[in-house]
Amino acid sequence: MHIFVTGGAGFIGSAYVHALLQDDSAGATVTVLDALSYSGNRDNLPQTHPRLRFVRGDITDDHLLRELLPGHDAIVHFAAESHVDRSIAGAMPFVRTNVLGTQVLLDAARAAGTGRFVHVSTDEVYGSIDEGSWTEKWPLEPNSPYAASKAGSDLLALAAHRTHGLDVVVTRCSNNYGPRQFPEKVIPLFVTNLMDGRQVPLYGDGANVRDWLHVSDHCRGIQLALEKGRAGEVYNIGGGTELSNRELTGRLLEACGADWDMVRPVADRKGHDRRYSLDITKISEELGYAPQIGLNDGLAATVAWYRDNRSWWEPLKARETA
Ligand SMILES: NC(=O)c1ccc[n+]([C@@H]2O[C@H](COP(=O)([O-])OP(=O)(O)OC[C@H]3O[C@@H](n4cnc5c(N)ncnc54)[C@H](O)[C@@H]3O)[C@@H](O)[C@H]2O)c1
Repeated sequence: MHIFVTGGAGFIGSAYVHALLQDDSAGATVTVLDALSYSGNRDNLPQTHPRLRFVRGDITDDHLLRELLPGHDAIVHFAAESHVDRSIAGAMPFVRTNVLGTQVLLDAARAAGTGRFVHVSTDEVYGSIDEGSWTEKWPLEPNSPYAASKAGSDLLALAAHRTHGLDVVVTRCSNNYGPRQFPEKVIPLFVTNLMDGRQVPLYGDGANVRDWLHVSDHCRGIQLALEKGRAGEVYNIGGGTELSNRELTGRLLEACGADWDMVRPVADRKGHDRRYSLDITKISEELGYAPQIGLNDGLAATVAWYRDNRSWWEPLKARETA
C-alpha cells in the first residue's frame, strides 16, 4: 500500500509514520509532505528508510499535490496549525492551512483518484461539555479559531464524500501526549520547564478537564479507521482518562520531583473550554478500538523520553525564546 501522509514531520504524524515503517509485514511505502513549519521537524523521521520518501512542501500547493499524489492508495491528513493559543493571537494561518489547505488536498485527491482519505481532526470541534460525553452526532460548536478552522475542514471533507463520493473518513481525537510533541503544549512545556528548574504556568483555576490519549493509541485508531472505517463516517478516538489541568500538573510535578512552588498561576486563556469528553462507543464497537496505554505508564514513559532527549527539545525552546 502507498500511503501519503501530510504533516508527517509533526508530533502525531511522525508517530504514525514510525508505526507504519516498523510494521514490516504490511510493508507500506510512505510519502510525507510537510512544510516544516515551526512545529515540523525533519529529525522526527528517519533520515533514510527504504520505504519513506520525504517532500518538503505545502498542502496549499495544488501543482505539487497533483505531481505527487498519483499512485497513492490512501491519504492520512495531519497537516495543520494546531495550537489554540497561537490561533487566539492570529487566526489567519489556521484558516489558510486548516481550511484552504484541506480543500486543496481534497480536490487534488479527487483529481488523482486516490483511495481512502483519513481526515485527522479534534474533539475541540464539539465545543465544551459540562456533563456526559460527545458522540459523533453532537453538533459542532467550536469556540477557538483553531477549533473553528478544524470544524470547517471536517465539514469540507464530509462534503467531498457526499457531493463527489470521495472515500473520506473523519477521526476526532482527544488531547494527545507522548514523545516528540512540540514544547508549547502543556505536557512537554511543563516537563521541560521543570527539568530546567523553571516554573510552569497554570491557566485560571486549573479546573479545566481534558481526556488524555497516548499518541500510539491514537495512531492505532487512525489505522483502524483507514482500514475498516465506513466512508463518510466520523469516529471519535479517546484515551478514556479525564483529568483536570490541576490534577495533571500534580502528576507532572511528582514525576519530575518538583512541588507546587514551581507552579505560577496565570490569567485564564480567552474562551477557555471547560471540559472535553469523548464517547468512543462507535469506534470500539465497529472497529474494535481500545486504548492500550494507561495514563500512569504513558506519562512515565513520556517524562523519561524528554529526560533522555534533551538534545531534541533544547534547540526548539531556545529558538522560541530567542
Ligand atoms: N496534538 C493533539 O493533542 C491533537 C489533538 C486533536 C487533534 N489533533 C490534530 O492532529 C493533527 C496533527 O497535530 P500535531 O499535534 O501532530 O501537530 P504538529 O503541529 O506537531 O504537526 C503539524 C505538522 O503539519 C505541518 N504543516 C503545518 N502547516 C502545513 C502546511 N501548510 N503544509 C504542509 N505541512 C504543514 C507542520 O510542519 C507539522 O509538521 C492536526 O490536524 C491536529 O489538528 C492534534
